[in-house]
Amino acid sequence: MAKKEAPSDLIGKFRIALLETLKKNESIENVLDLLPEVRQQWKELEPALKSFVSKDYVESQVRNFAQYSLTDEGSLLDLIISGKITVDQNSKPQIVEGEQTRDLTQDELNTYTKEIQNNVIEVTGTPHTIKFTRNYDKKVRNTLKLFNEQLRDKIVNKNDIKAALKTISQTKMDLTKEADLTQISVKRGKQFIQFTAVDPVSLTNDMLRSGEWNSVPLKQKNFTIPSELPLQGKLHPLVEMRSQFRRILLNLGFTEMFTRRYVESSFWNFDTLFQPQAHPCRDQHDTFFVAHGGDIQEQIQDGIPESFQGFALANNMASSELINRVRSAHEQGGEVAGGSIGLRYKWNPLEAQKLIMRTHTTAISTHTLATLNSGLQRIWNEQGNGDEWTHQEGGIQIKEQQQKNEHKWERGRLAKFFSIDRVFRNETLDRTHLAEFHQLEGFVVGEGLHVGHLMGIIAEFFAQIGLTEIRFQPTYNPYTEPSLEIYAVHPVLQKEIEIGNSGVFREEVMIPLGLPKGVRAIAWGLSLERPAMIQTRLQEISELIGHRVDMRWVESSALKLLHK
Ligand code: PHE
Repeated sequence: MAKKEAPSDLIGKFRIALLETLKKNESIENVLDLLPEVRQQWKELEPALKSFVSKDYVESQVRNFAQYSLTDEGSLLDLIISGKITVDQNSKPQIVEGEQTRDLTQDELNTYTKEIQNNVIEVTGTPHTIKFTRNYDKKVRNTLKLFNEQLRDKIVNKNDIKAALKTISQTKMDLTKEADLTQISVKRGKQFIQFTAVDPVSLTNDMLRSGEWNSVPLKQKNFTIPSELPLQGKLHPLVEMRSQFRRILLNLGFTEMFTRRYVESSFWNFDTLFQPQAHPCRDQHDTFFVAHGGDIQEQIQDGIPESFQGFALANNMASSELINRVRSAHEQGGEVAGGSIGLRYKWNPLEAQKLIMRTHTTAISTHTLATLNSGLQRIWNEQGNGDEWTHQEGGIQIKEQQQKNEHKWERGRLAKFFSIDRVFRNETLDRTHLAEFHQLEGFVVGEGLHVGHLMGIIAEFFAQIGLTEIRFQPTYNPYTEPSLEIYAVHPVLQKEIEIGNSGVFREEVMIPLGLPKGVRAIAWGLSLERPAMIQTRLQEISELIGHRVDMRWVESSALKLLHK
């Protein structure tokens, strides 16, 4: 008797046979026929194949084929049904085979006798006929009918004949037997290259020391799988977008304005912009009014928030001369408003003093314009940082300086400013509107600037962010003339959208701010959220900014300007 192979040897042998065959052929039709021992010892080899499959070395597919034949009993009963057994006068059964009739073999005779004893068949009448007894008639006929129709002489897929097999098994008679022809096909798997005669092992320190690493197959490392990102800080996409815009404007030679003043006076936000005090946009529907204005100086001493300090200093900067010039422009115009007839109503300083949350950063622009010809530019330091506000001792020093440096505007001077910061509007909140958003504001000031320059510089600015198809449309702003809305074709959406508003500041704005006649400012403004929403394809502004923003989105998003 051959020595029984140890299971591990058997598995090793199977593995090598599988490997070598699959190196030559892409697939094996039936792995059970791979080696003579596979079929007999399949119980031991099946788990091995499963482990190769789980490592993607190979793929396998099982097809449960079988072939059915009749048992001795089934054959005999089949002969009876088909009328091939006759019984002579002496009660001796015989088989009719074509023209011939022969006696039953001993085995057949034994079965025949047993069937009579078991009361499956009975022999009756003259001449003798064989019948199934009442108990067995239906069972036998059902089974043999199914066998003859679906199984005889066929190799069948067991899945296809489930119903027949069920009926046959229900008769509880062993009339048929099954020869298992299960076929397990195997083909190369995705990791077939990794399939070796022995399983590769992980490299260890010991292997390196002993030199064993050189002779054993080592597990391959996959260096292309992306690793998990470490948790780290991430700028909000809107902040990233702001710094991209800031870079563009700095590169174009713009200086950043000091914007750290959310709370603003109506004076800077509206009056300096030639907006009549009865203008509808000042009312509660658009503007957030700050309830406690109070005595600003007192509040500074009480250590109130910075924005209030900013306002207070801003207010100090609004010298009585400036206030009076703005008042005149509103009340009757004249020389101080470039020869305008003014707005012709009684201007009320109490209205101008009302504190509000600034509705636009254009309040910062007029504020900046007011410093240009007053010698007060020193309030910025080099970095465009407003910290030097603090070492101005209250307003006194500023006022003195202002008197000394009257008319500092030099001929041929060109100045460019921008800001990107938050503004507030008392708006109905919806998918695209919040009560606060970021405004990008810019202006260029110099002699002889006109609407042509405005259109040119705006086209250049938007080209820098990838919007090359710009269209202007006339509109109305109280403080600019002409005023132009800016439209652009969005490169991804391929449709025109409004992206900003612009204009040339009126003389009624410029001259009261202290700028000489002939010095013009071309200006524009847009919201930062608009391009950001287009870029991120977010549908709701609340997904971009505010407490409903998904931090996972912030961590994963990389906001780029439109053309990148
Ligand atoms: N202030 C305008 C706005 O809020 C924008 C603008 C700025 C328009 C400068 C003209 C000039 O939409």
